[in-house]
Amino acid sequence: MHRKIIAPSVLAASLLLAIPASATDFTPGAPGIGDPYYPSSGNGGYDVSHYDLRLKYQPATDLLEGTATILATTTQNLSRFNLDFGLKVSEVLVNGSRATFAKSGTQELEITPAAPLTKGRSVTVVVKYAGKPSELSIAGYTAWHRTPDGGVAAQEPDSAVWWFPSNDHPLDKATFDVSVLVPDGTQAVSNGTLQSQSSARGWTRYNWRSNKPQATYLTTLAIGKFDITTDTLANGLPVINAYSKDLGDNDGAARASVERTKEVAEWLTGLYGPYPFNSVGGYVPNVTSGFALETQTRPYYSPKQFANGANVSVVVHELAHQWYGDSVSVDGWKDIWNNEGFARYAQWLWSEKEGEGTAQELADYVYAQHPADDPFWKVKPGDPGPDNQFDLAVYDRGALAIQALRNAVGDKSFFAILKGWPTAHRYGNANVGDFVAYAEKASGKPLAQLFDTWLYQPTRPGAPAAKKARVALASGARAVQPKSWQKIAATNSIHDHR
Ligand code: TRP
Ligand code: ZN
Repeated sequence: MHRKIIAPSVLAASLLLAIPASATDFTPGAPGIGDPYYPSSGNGGYDVSHYDLRLKYQPATDLLEGTATILATTTQNLSRFNLDFGLKVSEVLVNGSRATFAKSGTQELEITPAAPLTKGRSVTVVVKYAGKPSELSIAGYTAWHRTPDGGVAAQEPDSAVWWFPSNDHPLDKATFDVSVLVPDGTQAVSNGTLQSQSSARGWTRYNWRSNKPQATYLTTLAIGKFDITTDTLANGLPVINAYSKDLGDNDGAARASVERTKEVAEWLTGLYGPYPFNSVGGYVPNVTSGFALETQTRPYYSPKQFANGANVSVVVHELAHQWYGDSVSVDGWKDIWNNEGFARYAQWLWSEKEGEGTAQELADYVYAQHPADDPFWKVKPGDPGPDNQFDLAVYDRGALAIQALRNAVGDKSFFAILKGWPTAHRYGNANVGDFVAYAEKASGKPLAQLFDTWLYQPTRPGAPAAKKARVALASGARAVQPKSWQKIAATNSIHDHR
């Protein structure tokens, strides 16, 4: 946020020229929100509170037509501002008046309102657009997965530019209404709850609502022929799962895994505190790529996650993200350990509960598996750099750091921290340093050195540090592969992130 201070001489000069002083004070919003990993992600000058997306999709042609209504508040005096978007725009209205707009590069839309916008006011932006999302490729990276019967938007760190204009960075979270018109017989799945569904003249409209702050990359859309199952959690919240009718051999294992969402969500509630959103579930589209993603309230699972049989561990991972990543989001992408370290550690705790290897055994195994000269230890989970953002080390070394914390503070304090953190930062953003400070305060122990060793040094912590953290010693020199290892590792199937 910038505030320009006008020197008195400038003020006098502008008065002399009969230009109102404030007219010189309107500047363009920045084309990025200021994340050094992804300089063009997000934008400056405003803060979005709500997106209302009204869409129509034709599976036969991949044509997506949309009207996005964006409610925001300006955070500076704006002469113009950007949205992140990749499809073709036909019209933009700002506060009801036609604005001029221009594409800048592949994913920036520059909007110049008819009249400049004053700081601290509400602004409504309406963007009308149409395009074929599968035709948009940004540096070989695509978030739109066309399927035989539809299409799916899911990617990290961004997926929105393929299907709606936004301030595309986790720092600007908002609530969402996603309304999608599809041919009868086809379903549309998104985040939150299905408010209503209606059919007329061969088309069905699905109205989805996600009523808690949600990052743009966690907003998802799946269109295709789905079998939708419903249930309720013990606290009454709806469970909504969706399976493509075209999962072939993976259908049984997919259902045997994702149908355990309710049980896993309730187990995680015991660990992390109240579930933060208005519904829970998951979906398995008929895509060919292999990853899973923690899309809010409704994680995305590739059918390949279940190609070797049921895998509840991946469900544990994605649901753990609902607290660690979705409700509490990163400040910037350098903070990815706050998401992946803890989602991986949840898998370790599930393994411990299932009697398939304790977290300590998994930690010992990770340590022993990577010799000191393994490049694995070069990655700093606390600031891995954009190229290594989703490196295995962020997950496995990241979880090792959490086991080191557990051993340093003891189980009672550790589990209080695990549960306290998502409550302390619920629906907000936080960074790695905030977690370290929180853990120190909650445990009453100095932890800066421990985290420096496990998160920030580009080397394998040596014997004294490992001994201190009681990692790599419990099972002696030969670490046996815990029974849960294969399923846990399968969560990291290669993702085609940029
Ligand atoms: N956050 C995802 C998970 O661990 C994994 C992931 C990383 C991903 N990069 C991605 C998924 C790119 C899809 C696309 O659950
Ligand atoms: Zn993850």
